[in-house]
Amino acid sequence: MSEAKKLYLKTYGCQMNVYDSERMAEALGAEGYTLTELAEEADMVLLNTCHIREKASEKLYSDLGRLKPLKQRKPGLKIGVAGCVAQAEGAEILRRAPLVDLVVGPQAYHRLPEMARGAGRVVDTEFPAEDKFDHLPARKALRGPTAFLTVQEGCDKFCAFCVVPYTRGTEVSRPVERLLAEARDLVARGVREITLLGQNVNAYHGAGPGGAWGLSRLLRELAGIPGLDRLRYTTSHPNDMADDLIAAHAEVPQLMPYLHLPVQSGSDRILRAMNRKHTADDYLRLVERIRAARPDILLTSDFIVGFPGETDADFQATLALIREVRFGAAFSFAYSARPGTPAAEKPPVPAALAQARLHELQALITAQQHAAQEAMVGREVGVLYEKPGRLPGQMVGKSDHLMAVHVTDPDGRVGELARARITAASTNSLAAIRVAG
Ligand code: SAH
Ligand code: SF4
Ligand code: F3S
Repeated sequence: MSEAKKLYLKTYGCQMNVYDSERMAEALGAEGYTLTELAEEADMVLLNTCHIREKASEKLYSDLGRLKPLKQRKPGLKIGVAGCVAQAEGAEILRRAPLVDLVVGPQAYHRLPEMARGAGRVVDTEFPAEDKFDHLPARKALRGPTAFLTVQEGCDKFCAFCVVPYTRGTEVSRPVERLLAEARDLVARGVREITLLGQNVNAYHGAGPGGAWGLSRLLRELAGIPGLDRLRYTTSHPNDMADDLIAAHAEVPQLMPYLHLPVQSGSDRILRAMNRKHTADDYLRLVERIRAARPDILLTSDFIVGFPGETDADFQATLALIREVRFGAAFSFAYSARPGTPAAEKPPVPAALAQARLHELQALITAQQHAAQEAMVGREVGVLYEKPGRLPGQMVGKSDHLMAVHVTDPDGRVGELARARITAASTNSLAAIRVAG
């Protein structure tokens, strides 16, 4: 190990970036870097970026602007840009921001330690044939009882609005044995809940004993690991919700009653223009089948409003779908034209109209979220404690349905999976008391 150096790491975007950041911190840990919360004391600043919407990717440049005085004071400071903006813009970042030393795309993270050691300004946005994770060191330190595990990366769906197929590349599944080993290792370090990650996680088809395994087979195998109490997966595409995966929701007790299933729109015309390859009715029938398998499942989704060509009737169809499904929560966004995507060629909906629709949709979602939270009052649920609460004798964790819960439990320990009775609800959290069992 070389001399002690400090790494300031900022993560934007999706959970996959959170997972990647952890792995990069570990890879740089082997080079002597420890994490710091203060950019001012860092020897290296690494920004793990997101390109999904214009606002997300512009954050990189405003953060770089803020780092300028620091770099002037500390010329030895290395500034690195990782993630999806690094992939999309590559060397352009070096041109636009002279203070950046290295640019590394999401598929090249195993080269990061070598890049950090070198002098000069470098860019690596290759999609190498090998699995980047094979070359990152094994995970060591852990922060809490929950962990992400990337099982699949990239996307072949090419929704007309989306940059992910370009920034993360085509769909690649990691082999079963490696994932089982990583999961066992996480459990040995105290993890009790694993969320499997993939841009299209339910399209998982990793090489395993006897051939390619689908996600349901992987989940069933993971459920056999002693001490691994909870499993989740995200994000799923409606067209890849296989029958055996739906059945797993009925048959695998460790699989939590929660599913994030983005639909984007409730208008068939817009779904077609988005290249989603499913109709609103396909989605509704799918929801019926999932709820038949697991009646108490909580569904969440993603929506885009103001997609090019969206009329008021299209928007009303989206609201109608939301009313019919009744979601537990959702992410919703005004459409943002992304360079290089097919939809970016089309004339946009006026921004003010898109914003008005967004507010209307969000009000409906918030009301549904509130109703879903209220419906928990009086119920007994499992809560995995993640940290002590702000009040003495209180623990905070997530329920089976991934709701934040504050539990009165003076004897509670972090990492404990407790039973609790919900006593009160607000839109964003629940209050509960511990019960026996
Ligand atoms: N793989 C997931 C989502 C990936 S991106 C899926 O298939 O749905 C996360 C969310 O960002 C998307 O579901 C979409 O709602 C939103 N999003 C993606 N591109 C966008 C764009 N150009 N403008 C606005 N929202 C976008
Ligand atoms: Fe993007 Fe998801 Fe569509 Fe893939 S399926 S192109 S990640 S929105
Ligand atoms: Fe953003 Fe890349 Fe994730 S664009 S949402 S960080 S895959």
